[in-house]
Amino acid sequence: MVSPSVHARAKPDPGPLTTVLVTGASGLLGRRVVQALQSRDLSVSSAPRDLSQVDLAPVDAVVICATVPARPFEIDLGQIDFLVTHTEAHLVYPSIVGCDLMPWPYYEAKTTCEQNLQSRASRWTIIRATQFHHLIWGWYTAPTRWPWLAVPAETRYQVLDPAVHAEALAAAVADQMFGRLPDIGGPFAYEARELARSCQRAIGRRRPVLTYNKRGLFGAALRAGANLTPNRSGGETWNEFIARRTKG
Ligand SMILES: NC(=O)c1ccc[n+]([C@@H]2O[C@H](COP(=O)([O-])OP(=O)(O)OC[C@H]3O[C@@H](n4cnc5c(N)ncnc54)[C@H](OP(=O)(O)O)[C@@H]3O)[C@@H](O)[C@H]2O)c1
Repeated sequence: MVSPSVHARAKPDPGPLTTVLVTGASGLLGRRVVQALQSRDLSVSSAPRDLSQVDLAPVDAVVICATVPARPFEIDLGQIDFLVTHTEAHLVYPSIVGCDLMPWPYYEAKTTCEQNLQSRASRWTIIRATQFHHLIWGWYTAPTRWPWLAVPAETRYQVLDPAVHAEALAAAVADQMFGRLPDIGGPFAYEARELARSCQRAIGRRRPVLTYNKRGLFGAALRAGANLTPNRSGGETWNEFIARRTKG
């Protein structure tokens, strides 16, 4: 059971790491991080949106999963700024593969968050991952006003089970692994067109999938595979994810 806030108690010194705060604990990744931490018998608390309400004194580590892609410099970076200023706890941050190579405001904010952690936090860990299954599913099943679905040409996504990222973040906390850890990528990289078609089939729609040339440096970076990593992890595959969704 996740308590709504951190309860004050004596900090074990020296002693085992016990209290972990998770921001964004209700989110796609945050929920899985909480489970992964609890399965390691760590005491886990979910942070309120306003971190100034939390007593950070007993907190040994914070996994920073809160994000607002529409306001990343305000929310995501604001959260990092608050934590590096107010705690010396181990700060563990999920980032995105290639964020420093792709000029898009959300990715620029992720890169700035990474830089702030690296230069200002006492102890930090960054683990970048590729796009989660659920993100791609959300894009390619959302209702559109057009009778077709348009996806970027020559673009691949190395879709990943978010539980794999959550496990790696929880392991970094439990085993006190610091620094930039290896990137995590899904087991296969699929063309966007292929992913879109499988989503359409799963929800029983027959809209044709068209490709377009995504403009600018961001499109070029995607076509060059800046969002991909040679590292290939396990976890649920895209086909298993789609099969589960289709049955559902
Ligand atoms: N999705 C991907 O494909 C992917 C891939 C690699 C890395 N990541 C990274 O993983 C992290 C988590 O992403 P996610 O996909 O799990 O996001 P998500 O499902 O959208 O969850 C976002 C979380 O942020 C919280 N939140 C919303 N507004 C907030 C605010 N104003 N202040 C504080 N918290 C707020 C939400 O809580 P409420 O319930 O209160 O709204 C929710 O718990 C992000 O840093 C993301 O960049 C994601």
